[in-house]
Amino acid sequence: MVEGEVQHGLEDVVALESRICFIDGKGGRLIYQGYDIRDLAAQSTFEEVAYLLWYGRLPTAAQLRDLKDRLVQLRTIPPGVLEIIDRIPRDSSPMDVLRTAVSALAVFEPAETQPGASSIGGAQRLTAVLPTILGYYHRRRSGLEPLAPHPGAGHAAYLLAAVSDRPATELEVRALDVALILHADHELNASTFAARVTASTLSDLYSAVTSAIGTLKGPLHGGANERVMELLDEIDKPERSDEVIRARLARHERIMGFGHRVYKVEDPRATILRDWSRRVGEAHNDLHYYRILREVESVVHREKGLYPNVDLYSGSIYTLLGVPKDLFTPLFAASRVVGWTAHVLEEYQDLRLIRPMARYIGPTDLTYTPIGQRS
Ligand code: COA
Repeated sequence: MVEGEVQHGLEDVVALESRICFIDGKGGRLIYQGYDIRDLAAQSTFEEVAYLLWYGRLPTAAQLRDLKDRLVQLRTIPPGVLEIIDRIPRDSSPMDVLRTAVSALAVFEPAETQPGASSIGGAQRLTAVLPTILGYYHRRRSGLEPLAPHPGAGHAAYLLAAVSDRPATELEVRALDVALILHADHELNASTFAARVTASTLSDLYSAVTSAIGTLKGPLHGGANERVMELLDEIDKPERSDEVIRARLARHERIMGFGHRVYKVEDPRATILRDWSRRVGEAHNDLHYYRILREVESVVHREKGLYPNVDLYSGSIYTLLGVPKDLFTPLFAASRVVGWTAHVLEEYQDLRLIRPMARYIGPTDLTYTPIGQRS
């Protein structure tokens, strides 16, 4: 990299040191605190991974039990925040609701929002409460009874009860649990970077998570799986994949769920989710989306040499779980909140204001014209 050269999109810029997450873009590996994502997806739970990301080590059975209990206790939303959610129009984007509710929560929980507050309690509070916010909003807009407290349910089961309108099977809860594990962190992705930039000014955890939610909302980051489902609905039958994809590519459109800034091979999360898409499809006796996705994969690889990313298969699983499309990105947030908060806590420990530079390309010597003389 030449000094003063602009790195558009900060591509390949190493902005800080972190112990939390490693992406091996060439080898197609993802590591959380030293552990391979494939082992975590096969053997751990979301709560275990949350503990790992926050504390840097796997929990003992007692530590895991304590964390699970704590996440259950922290699920309740203050009435003041419920009133604010009640005033949000029913057709709003759930990501806007989430961002607004987290921001509002800060006002009601001032102890967690002192400048630089580094309490892990705030991280656990936000993780515990996001499903409640989503469930409150979604059930109200759907004319359903309020979300029950579900004291015996783990994070995935509670979240699924919040966003799906029907009871879930064990396999479905596990499918979501795995998806949550896979989405929990991803190094300096755009939303985590936004959270760290906010924290680096010594702002509070809730403000950092509010920034992150706003950043995750964009379709180039969190919103891609929703667009994948729109594409699959347009394709409708596997044999139409070739025609639809080639038409989109001819219009220079991006195919959502493909390509990645860091992975140059298949995203390991896509490999795991492909398997879960098939498993959930088989359990439902419905491989409609899975079959189209397999075909789309081969067309996109043939035409553009691109590999699937995490967003290609997740939507097909969520759809079979009964989750409406506009709640896909909120599900992502309900998992990534662990990564955001782990990074913010790390930022507080090794604080350095994040403030890059721009190369100025505008003029410098214009003559000021008083307003009355401008045409
Ligand atoms: N569909 C079609 N072409 C794609 C593509 C996609 N999904 N992703 C990348 N490309 C092409 C670009 O058009 C570009 O081609 P060109 O050099 O001929 O112009 C080339 O690949 C490089 O793309 P670039 O935008 O520089 O890569 P990036 O690192 O900035 O892009 C993404 C990363 C994720 C933004 C990009 O792959 C993308 O838009 N994917 C779709 C959205 C998505 O799935 N997001 C979820 C990410 S987990």
